[in-house]
Amino acid sequence: MYRTHHCNELRKSHAGATATLVGWVNTVRDHHGVIFMDIRDREGVTQCVFRSEENAEAAALSHQLRAEDVVQVTGRVDARPDIEGKSTANAAIATGEIELVATELKVLNKAEVLPFQLDKELSNEDLRMKHRYLDLRRPRMARNLRQRHVITKAIRDRLDAAGYIEVETPILSKSTPEGARDFLVPSRLSPGRFYALPQAPQQYKQMMMVAGLEKYFQIARCFRDEDLRADRQPEFTQVDIEASFVTEEDLFALVEDLLAAAFKASRGVDVPTPFPRLTYQEAMDKYGSDKPDRRFGMEIVDLSDVFASSAFKVFAGTLEKGGKVRAINAKGFASVTTGQIKRLEEVAKEAGAGGLAYIKVEGGEWKSPIVKFFTDAEKAALTERLGIEEGDLILFGCDQWSVCCEVLGRLRLEASSMCELTKDMDDVLDFLWVVDFPLLAYDAEEAKWNAVHHPFTRPRAEDQPLLDDESQWDQIRAVAYDVVLNGYELGGGSLRIHESDLQSRLFSVLGIDDEEQRSKFGHILTAFSYGAPPHGGIALGLDRLVMLACREESIREVIAFPKNNKGIDLMSASPGEVDFKQLRELYIQSTAKEKKA
Ligand code: AMO
Ligand code: AMP
Repeated sequence: MYRTHHCNELRKSHAGATATLVGWVNTVRDHHGVIFMDIRDREGVTQCVFRSEENAEAAALSHQLRAEDVVQVTGRVDARPDIEGKSTANAAIATGEIELVATELKVLNKAEVLPFQLDKELSNEDLRMKHRYLDLRRPRMARNLRQRHVITKAIRDRLDAAGYIEVETPILSKSTPEGARDFLVPSRLSPGRFYALPQAPQQYKQMMMVAGLEKYFQIARCFRDEDLRADRQPEFTQVDIEASFVTEEDLFALVEDLLAAAFKASRGVDVPTPFPRLTYQEAMDKYGSDKPDRRFGMEIVDLSDVFASSAFKVFAGTLEKGGKVRAINAKGFASVTTGQIKRLEEVAKEAGAGGLAYIKVEGGEWKSPIVKFFTDAEKAALTERLGIEEGDLILFGCDQWSVCCEVLGRLRLEASSMCELTKDMDDVLDFLWVVDFPLLAYDAEEAKWNAVHHPFTRPRAEDQPLLDDESQWDQIRAVAYDVVLNGYELGGGSLRIHESDLQSRLFSVLGIDDEEQRSKFGHILTAFSYGAPPHGGIALGLDRLVMLACREESIREVIAFPKNNKGIDLMSASPGEVDFKQLRELYIQSTAKEKKA
């Protein structure tokens, strides 16, 4: 037996007992020749004291201890003494009232000096990732890993209780359209052919419905070769769900229950349900985003009617072409610096704007090059609609609807971040559903229609007739929904098409001809012809959920071994090189060198 107790367990009530602890040397202090050593395991810390009168050999050995050595200590539990009338107890740790007076010490393994200190935050993320096994020794990271376990277990338990059956689907699978690039795996046994790693188990879970499982779930690893961000990894985990004979209301209730259980288990809080709902149109109009952060106001206000006959040509011209003039009021942000305005301008331009019109309200004056074009009536309407007061900063968007939404949505977030509006708001949990997403979106560059969610998503029944008229396709609403928390898309799903002919129709709309339908999706179309039940589902991003529960700002903080933003695992140095022989077996030859040259 390595231990009798964990390092968080011993109390005054154990005084006099003998205990054995194992773990890492957290700290060592030499106090007039007496060694005080804090031993740490995954549960906590206990102070050990080495005195030569207890065991001279152990006391001598204790002088050689170094931080992070792995040790086993046996000793007598003593209440910490009073020294000169003052208690030496340490209220900051659970075992602070006792110490282990060591009678035996075994060094199980020595440690070299670590490349970084564990008790300090480290901004060099590369160094953290290179030695991730050390980074994970930090209390914060250890806590995050355990929170992930707690949340996953809570969700799994709820799904089990609700009759959902966990099924594993293939990792070596076939390309499925989720909108990202595939990771490919060459096949040795089928020369020239490739598996795709699943972007999501979408088709398999639908096949489980045709199989009659009725309720499926999987804590599923997904792979998407896309540009990485704080909330995106090439390899991530979904809580993937599919059910037959359900309405979207059934799925909303299930997901609300799962998320409430997750936050109860991790933070001990009660999340109110049901979650509020916004249509996609409302979310875009008010917040310029389909994943709005509503914890701060700054709602987008439409001013198109106000400026219908504006003397300011940019506004009037855009409105004539069917565009919108809208604005947000960044309350009290007239103090914005020139640098910040420049940054806001950049953000607007990145989002597609031609420029950025703004008004600073300072010293009772509207400071802006465009105000001279405004009539008194226009100014009065602006003041009233935006609630303009001294000290405010007004930012305008003036473009076609979608660009206008994008621009103001981004400006809203940038201004909020500059003013640190959500800084102390980690405890505010603003869950909401965004519903009625459009089914299709036109990609002008590629001159084709794309599925907004994915091609298996069901159009709303009342909008289905619009499929007959291409000019109406952007008006078709899908039975698709996202669940959003504090500006993050936590999950998304839809009711599915379960009819072979409708599915084929949708593929045609997406420019997939009969030949391609047969070769890529033949299995789906065939399966649907053998009695496919009505079904639908959703997938929650587990990494994002855990990140938010842990109040972290990147999913890298809640993934044991994440990739950096170049998709590299610095610890194991993957992706790595392979030798020629391996490639030859796979009928592969690399052109990387030629490309570089
Ligand atoms: P979707 O593509 O919306 O839907 O993905 C569902 C959720 O997965 C999370 N997510 C990610 N998390 C981390 N890194 C990524 N690269 C990443 N990409 C997605 C998000 C997202 O909301 N098959 C459908 C679901 C369905 O229709 O049932 C799907 O995958 O939190
Ligand atoms: P520390 O929090 O470990 O820095 O404790 C403050 C001081 O009290 C240090 O000098 C410790 O070595 C000393 N100390 C802590 N615990 C004991 C103890 N049980 N007996 C004697 N000195 C102690």
